[in-house]
Amino acid sequence: MEKILIVYESRYGATRQYAQAIGRALGCPVYSRKELPAGQLESCSILVYGGGLYAGGVAGIRTLKQAMENYPQKEFVLFTCGVADPALPETVAAVRRGLEKALGAQALDRLHLFCLRGRLDYSQLSPLHRMMMAALCRMLKRKDPRSLAEEDRQILDTYGSRVDFVNLGTLTPLLSCLEQP
Ligand SMILES: Cc1cc2nc3c(=O)[nH]c(=O)nc-3n(C[C@H](O)[C@H](O)[C@H](O)COP(=O)(O)O)c2cc1C
Repeated sequence: MEKILIVYESRYGATRQYAQAIGRALGCPVYSRKELPAGQLESCSILVYGGGLYAGGVAGIRTLKQAMENYPQKEFVLFTCGVADPALPETVAAVRRGLEKALGAQALDRLHLFCLRGRLDYSQLSPLHRMMMAALCRMLKRKDPRSLAEEDRQILDTYGSRVDFVNLGTLTPLLSCLEQP
């Protein structure tokens, strides 16, 4: 099998849970982005990067961008982890828009992208993230309810509570992609 390396950035644990499950399934090393030892990137042929979604952006995406620029011969898989439902086309479209801005259209075309679902527990949020979510909800409440996207409605419905959508079963397509000869 090709040499696979998994690198992730996770603030609240959902992305880490998925990254570790991929590592267990494939028997390959898993590192948090900030603890990636020097030289690891060079030696892999496939980099799997996982990042939580924050205000439409993928945490630590700069690491993936640099790796794609520095190693044009390698393959790249990205999984994102957010609370919005990836079964809705608008959720995936929003992720792709953010990635196009962060990486550029050409790099996005080179990626194998998988959108997974995470969790949100307001009692665990950092003060900055709590303020960001409060501001987002205030802004959404001012809008005409009929104009809200399903994703926005879900944010308003779950505001202040705990939702956990982590489902390791949703890794099957990503694992199949990596297990292909
Ligand atoms: C400030 C903030 C902004 C967020 N923005 C988004 C978002 O744009 N899209 C989304 O689907 N989820 C969003 N989320 C939910 C996170 O993506 C979710 O909590 C995910 O599990 C984070 O990954 P982690 O658990 O690995 O840190 C946001 C959460 C916070 C606290």
